[in-house]
Amino acid sequence: MTEAPAPQRSLVLVKPDGVARGLTGEILRRIEAKGYRLVALELRVATRELLEEHYAEHAGKPFFEPLVEFMSSGPVVAAVIEGHQVIPGFRSLAGATDPTAAAPGTIRGDLGRDWGLRVAQNLVHGSDAPESAAREIALWFPGL
Ligand code: TYD
Ligand code: MG
Repeated sequence: MTEAPAPQRSLVLVKPDGVARGLTGEILRRIEAKGYRLVALELRVATRELLEEHYAEHAGKPFFEPLVEFMSSGPVVAAVIEGHQVIPGFRSLAGATDPTAAAPGTIRGDLGRDWGLRVAQNLVHGSDAPESAAREIALWFPGL
């Protein structure tokens, strides 16, 4: 009998707006209700250094500085979640980057607010590919 392929892992962040608005439980509820498993979970205030590394692909873009500022403005909840195709699966739960465009039924579509700020405050981050998931998990949870 062939073994089932190892389930994927993804890094998820409940961003400072999500933690401040008391939506951590609701977001984790949706993740668990979908059947994904929590592998690591931590509340912390991210340093600028960590965030510049985390968002390195966006360095130099107009929203980079406001993004790093926003992401370090308060505690985030960092999680590693696991499950079949969890990387695209969580991106689909999260919805489109822009909360105005995100479909109803998604985290950003149902709960995200768009105040026309310099940076989208869209509640969650999710890794976008296996390579970025591996990089981000090593960055946030080096012991894992
Ligand atoms: P990105 O990785 O493109 O989006 P996602 O979080 O959906 O993977 O961008 C990272 C974050 O930067 C995004 O969540 C919100 C912010 N952002 C803006 O504020 N304006 C923009 O035009 C883009 C592309 C991103
Ligand atoms: Mg991204």
